[in-house]
Amino acid sequence: MGLDLIERINWKGNEIVLDAGCGSGRLTKIISTKIPKGKVFAVDLDSSMIKIANERLAKISNVKFIQSNICDIELQDKIDIVFSNAVLHWISNQITEKCLDIFGNFSNQMVNY
Ligand SMILES: C[S@@+](CC[C@H](N)C(=O)[O-])C[C@H]1O[C@@H](n2cnc3c(N)ncnc32)[C@H](O)[C@@H]1O
Repeated sequence: MGLDLIERINWKGNEIVLDAGCGSGRLTKIISTKIPKGKVFAVDLDSSMIKIANERLAKISNVKFIQSNICDIELQDKIDIVFSNAVLHWISNQITEKCLDIFGNFSNQMVNY
């Protein structure tokens, strides 16, 4: 399902992407190949997931993994696309205004709930 979301986008190749709840980085890796001139900020709450993802993508330079609650994330970079697969149901009982900023203000984002 997440793969379908990725393939649905007409990538330009230079997008800045936020992968919200990246898990083990399985889909992050595929996104990174779509944007050779862009960057993925991949965020997950679970430090063990971030560790696995970092190891899995060790040779990929356009991904930065961040261990954080997605509702608390502060990024300096302007985000073009918020990608989030199979995550919203995990946080639906902790939605804050900040979360709504992240998910709500990107009307064309790739959220798969
Ligand atoms: C079902 S996994 C999906 C992983 C990945 N998106 C994929 O499709 O392969 C859900 C992930 O969301 C993360 N997660 C849950 N609540 C989160 C939060 N508040 N902030 C960041 N990540 C969160 C979990 O740690 C878990 O790795």
